[in-house]
Amino acid sequence: MAPNCVHLAAFLLLLSSVASCGRAWVGVNWGTMATHQLPPEKVAKMLKENGFTKLKLFDADELILAALMGTDIEVMVAIPNNMLDKISNSPKAADSWVHDNVTSYLFTGGVKIKYVAVGNEPFLKAYNGTYAKKTLPALENIQRSLDNAGHGSKVKVTVPFNADIYYSPDSNPVPSAGDFRPEWRDLTIEIIQFLYANNAPFTVNIYPFLSLYGNRDFPFDFAFFDGNNKPLWDGKALYTNVFDANLDTLLWALDKAGYADLKVIIGEIGWPTDGDNNANAKNARRFNLGLLKHAVSGKGTPKRNGTVDLFLFSLIDENTKSVAPGNFERHWGIFEFDGKPKYELDLTGQNEEKGLIPVEGIKYLEKRWCILDPDVTDLDDLAKSIDYACSLSDCTSLGYGSTCSNLSLQGNASYAFNMYYQVNNQKDWDCDFSGLAIITHDDPSENDCQFPVMIARSSPLLLHGGISDILKKAVRLYIFVMFLL
Ligand SMILES: *[C@@H]1O[C@H](CO)[C@@H](O)[C@H](O)[C@H]1NC(C)=O
Ligand SMILES: *[C@@H]1O[C@H](CO)[C@@H](O)[C@H](O)[C@H]1NC(C)=O
Ligand SMILES: *[C@@H]1O[C@H](CO)[C@@H](O)[C@H](O)[C@H]1NC(C)=O
Ligand SMILES: *[C@@H]1O[C@H](CO)[C@@H](O)[C@H](O)[C@H]1NC(C)=O
Ligand SMILES: *[C@@H]1O[C@H](CO)[C@@H](O)[C@H](O)[C@H]1NC(C)=O
Repeated sequence: MAPNCVHLAAFLLLLSSVASCGRAWVGVNWGTMATHQLPPEKVAKMLKENGFTKLKLFDADELILAALMGTDIEVMVAIPNNMLDKISNSPKAADSWVHDNVTSYLFTGGVKIKYVAVGNEPFLKAYNGTYAKKTLPALENIQRSLDNAGHGSKVKVTVPFNADIYYSPDSNPVPSAGDFRPEWRDLTIEIIQFLYANNAPFTVNIYPFLSLYGNRDFPFDFAFFDGNNKPLWDGKALYTNVFDANLDTLLWALDKAGYADLKVIIGEIGWPTDGDNNANAKNARRFNLGLLKHAVSGKGTPKRNGTVDLFLFSLIDENTKSVAPGNFERHWGIFEFDGKPKYELDLTGQNEEKGLIPVEGIKYLEKRWCILDPDVTDLDDLAKSIDYACSLSDCTSLGYGSTCSNLSLQGNASYAFNMYYQVNNQKDWDCDFSGLAIITHDDPSENDCQFPVMIARSSPLLLHGGISDILKKAVRLYIFVMFLL
């Protein structure tokens, strides 16, 4: 249990010995698939203020890493799937990646890079095997580059896997029947052997929300951690939530492969707040609160005791993510697009009333909205205009079960026009729609349905499509000079 664990650690510390029982940590994923990024240095400040100790990125963004310099936040940088081919084929490409994206930050006052994620869910069915065979060779090349650069003992490689690489059969749907899916089994076990040999963790993304989303018969309460559901027995093991059952399915699969004690971290876990009738702030808070309490308690799962190390998914809403999985995809943030917390959450998993600190000092565009002109009577072209506006912005809050699902047709049009207008930075010519639209200074938001005003692009570093090469070089030079000092 955690309290004993902490006391033991304190006691052992007095004896200047190292406690073997790890302390729980809560990290968070910071994805950047959004039209408007918050200033990284303001987000970094917020992360510190909220006590996040670990951060997971999906690449090695220079601006984000520059903003993290000098903080104690431990970072997982990542090699995106589309670089796996190059890095698997070329030890040189791996060397340059490690040089630019790890070595150049590892100085006193730099960035505490702890992990390199090689690929992201590379075995996902949707990728149709494109990345599967590249993953291990890329992993090997990156490990060799890290070793050659002298970081092998400090910086660990890993591969974030989707939980669909393992399963338990329909005939015996219990964790102890868990195994890797036959089509991925050999490749997965080769990767596991490699991770084990390098003292590196296995990373898995687990989504109880998707268990519920994908299955009408799924027992609702079993997705959460309050134990209100009829428990599931697996022999003598008692399961009161789907997270434990899912994680133990993996742990049994590892056990059968001969790696019962491989370190496992949860790469992504969370709950969305819009875009589906189960996706709302109340459920998200219930889930995350229960998760954090459970993770830090040290109770572990029936198969493995101890705290659970995890990265919440995710930090901030991302309004350009693909909605192929569902409209909820753009609403995973525990913070809104503008850095406001969506609900109270105590990251230490103790005090239910404690809130999160927002990103401060955010500048917005002017307080104005684009809506359907209430005087327009000919609405024949409205549907076409709505489709156009939505296809180039984000209307995921309009669908069934979402926060703006009760709008009238006119309300829908206004919502769509406004989203288009805001993501295009409120340019006058973006509020026209063949004369159907007008600008208003009265906030059209109603009840839970928010008509946002977009954040202002505060710095030239955040121009669409990334930063210019000159600025990149300036950042590198800065890093290099810092290194010399
Ligand atoms: C370092 O990471 C960045 C961001 O992910 C990427 O664009 C760049 O190509 C990487 N550098 C090398 C040398 O591969
Ligand atoms: C998946 O790959 C197979 C074999 O290469 C190919 O026949 C199929 O069209 C691909 N499917 C998709 C969706 O890319
Ligand atoms: C976990 O700890 C409890 C209490 O110390 C013990 O009874 C149980 O056997 C342990 N379970 C595992 C899987 O190690
Ligand atoms: C929409 O209306 C239905 C029926 O009146 C109601 O149950 C639901 O809560 C409303 N949804 C929102 C987001 O206001
Ligand atoms: C508003 O838009 C949503 C999403 O496109 C649609 O499901 C809904 O039927 C629309 N409502 C009206 C009244 O047209």
